[in-house]
Amino acid sequence: MKKLKEYIRSIPDFPEQGIIFRDITSMLQDADGLALAVNKLRDEVKDLDYDIIVGPESRGFIFGVPLAYAEHKPFIPIRKKGKLPCETISVEYDLEYGKGILEIHKDAVSPGQRVVIVDDLIATGGTTQAMIKLIEQLGGVVVKLCFMIELKDLKGRDKLKGYSVSSLVSYEDD
Ligand code: PRP
Ligand code: MG
Repeated sequence: MKKLKEYIRSIPDFPEQGIIFRDITSMLQDADGLALAVNKLRDEVKDLDYDIIVGPESRGFIFGVPLAYAEHKPFIPIRKKGKLPCETISVEYDLEYGKGILEIHKDAVSPGQRVVIVDDLIATGGTTQAMIKLIEQLGGVVVKLCFMIELKDLKGRDKLKGYSVSSLVSYEDD
């Protein structure tokens, strides 16, 4: 059986010279790759006590929704500015390539709810830090952060001290 990493392709010089882009589309377009990815995420959460899964637009949706469906948990989207129709709270954050604003519906997380965050990738950790801020502002308790891919050299974990972090595939020396 192929390993998860073998389904991910590496594209040199995208989106900029000198960056190696870790591309999950090669995994998604293979039914075995997609199933393996979601099943591995299921292993990460199966023994956890939690209420909801939260994931960010857009690649976080790719893994967050099938995981929530498989585990029969609710899925809460965090979206880029201006996309959510009801009352929101927002946070500014540093992206790998620029700045952005993320938003969540105010009624999406209740105080005390236990939250698992899912995203395709952790690089600098800026996106994740912003998501934690939003969730905690609403009174949610982040119990675990699950990533498909970790770019270790960007040291995203350093921003997440005190939280439980797991990644399924990691790369160094980017
Ligand atoms: C990418 C990736 C993660 C984030 C990681 O998302 O999907 O969400 O960057 O980077 P960080 O750890 O440095 O914050 P991006 O903002 O490119 O948007 P997308 O998911 O819509 O493609
Ligand atoms: Mg993303």
